[in-house]
Amino acid sequence: MVAQAAANPGVGILGAEPFVNGVAMALGRIRRAGVANIRIHAGDVRDLFDILPDGCIGRAFLLYPDPWPKRRHRERRFVTPSYLWPLARVMAPGAELRLASDVADYIEHALAAVPAAGFDLLTPPAGRATPWPGWMPTRYEAKALREGRPPAYLTFRRGPAPSPGGGGGPATCPAAPASPVDRDAAIG
Ligand SMILES: C[S@@+](CC[C@H](N)C(=O)[O-])C[C@H]1O[C@@H](n2cnc3c(N)ncnc32)[C@H](O)[C@@H]1O
Repeated sequence: MVAQAAANPGVGILGAEPFVNGVAMALGRIRRAGVANIRIHAGDVRDLFDILPDGCIGRAFLLYPDPWPKRRHRERRFVTPSYLWPLARVMAPGAELRLASDVADYIEHALAAVPAAGFDLLTPPAGRATPWPGWMPTRYEAKALREGRPPAYLTFRRGPAPSPGGGGGPATCPAAPASPVDRDAAIG
């Protein structure tokens, strides 16, 4: 996220992390990099979905979401309707959702669950092993590669249809801080 912010100083980036250690690590990196276009929510990303207006986010990143491998914990995964529909609402029609995971079962789950929440899959099967142009590996990705788990990269596009249960946020996007003109969101 910090590297992305440095490479795209005209883009406002929102990050969310519920664990204080993760927030402290991110703040240290932001300070050391001297970037001014990141805002961190120290909490669950769903809090942002409650307050952001419709169509505010230009691109969303879901990078190595917690896999919750046990079947009885599946409801805790991000790629469930309770996260995906609110995310779709705050994303602009046509905005990209980029998802990376090293868990084959999570990817299979996402291939079914994300389109069911109003997104179109853009990545063909042959393209799933190729990261996005300008991609900078995350800490978790580096660990997965060291441990022999190759990642998959999926790109979805938010469709034009309004999401169920839409509304709830303010009517217009809040003013962007200083110069950033677009908004991206990183989850976790
Ligand atoms: C496996 S780690 C991946 C971290 C980072 N994206 C990377 O690739 O190095 C998953 C992260 O998602 C965070 N997370 C889990 N649930 C979240 C939620 N509801 N909102 C925001 N972050 C969440 C966890 O605290 C953890 O830091």
